[in-house]
Amino acid sequence: MNNITIQSPQTSRLSSVDFDNLPFGEIFSDHMFVADYRDGKWQDARVVPFAPITLSPSNLALHYGQSIFEGMKAFKDKDGKPMLFRPEQHAIRINKSAHRMSMPDIPEDLFMDAVNTLIGLDHAWIPPKRGSALYIRPFMFATDAVIGVRASKTYKFIIFTGPVGPYYSKPLNLVTADEYVRAVPGGVGEAKAAGNYAAAIYPTDLAHTAGFDQILWTDNRDYKYIQECGTMNVFFVIGDTVVTPNLNGAILKGITRDSLLTLLRAEGTKVEERPISIDELIEAHKEGKLIDAFGAGTAAVVSQIQSISYKENGEYVKMELPDVKSRDISIRLKKEINDIRARLAADPHGWMHEVKVSSPVMG
Ligand SMILES: Cc1ncc(COP(=O)(O)O)c(C=O)c1O
Repeated sequence: MNNITIQSPQTSRLSSVDFDNLPFGEIFSDHMFVADYRDGKWQDARVVPFAPITLSPSNLALHYGQSIFEGMKAFKDKDGKPMLFRPEQHAIRINKSAHRMSMPDIPEDLFMDAVNTLIGLDHAWIPPKRGSALYIRPFMFATDAVIGVRASKTYKFIIFTGPVGPYYSKPLNLVTADEYVRAVPGGVGEAKAAGNYAAAIYPTDLAHTAGFDQILWTDNRDYKYIQECGTMNVFFVIGDTVVTPNLNGAILKGITRDSLLTLLRAEGTKVEERPISIDELIEAHKEGKLIDAFGAGTAAVVSQIQSISYKENGEYVKMELPDVKSRDISIRLKKEINDIRARLAADPHGWMHEVKVSSPVMG
């Protein structure tokens, strides 16, 4: 167990929160975890009141982007106990991101102790309603105050949290990327690096202006092979087979993706992780075999796809998919994960992790 000092705010802000009307990502809980990396090790692990931080204008992360993050959630189970879903996978992934960005490892036990301590203290911030959650944002960024393109020698690892309502995503109308790319093999698409998200904003804005919800990202050579959808992994049901793009270095290794693949394989559904092209989707759609499609990620678990548009001779062609209510696999998978998270269903893969609650420390 790491030595984490705790200082709570004088008064909690919890009573001012309307749990029935939670805007996403705007309300933050009482505490945050902070640790500093210097002299080659993580030090001063502490939980303090959530508050702004000060940075030098020459902070290296602001200029050259050494900044990575994770996104995970704490839930209340059916008995009101605080639970985390596969937290160790997030610890593993933040270190993969750190490695790619020349940043230091966060020991898995420090990550786990930090998340457990923080959620234990702010457990009352987990909204009680089914489908609501306490969103957890661990992130690490460079703190050297120096202008120079090189790895920082110092970093901050911070975790803060905030309550979010049930994430309802309306069926998505997607457009395939045919000019901009999200990621390329050998690039940083497999890392949760801040710059990936910045680079996607402009093309996503263009897609919104053209009337679409999200981009179906494709490869950088032919704009043909599917990668992801918005900030989610993507699945297609073609006939009796569930197909998702194989991890090729340009695709984030989603924890929801892995969980869905595990559930599908356990129930004996035919699953393929392989390159899948827009041409194959068009063909399958023509033959009436493209019966379901969905994005997968922590935020919504499963977001069904209503249509996929692509350009042909300069004009958009829209492929309408079957009515979302008629879908079998996407509806079932979403319910299965949500039931495991609420502990309404068995957890055969040991994904749920209970958090020990604790009281604020005044001082
Ligand atoms: C680019 C991208 N792809 C996929 C995902 C889904 O990953 P996960 O299921 O771990 O939330 C995310 C969200 O973290 C993402 O940012």
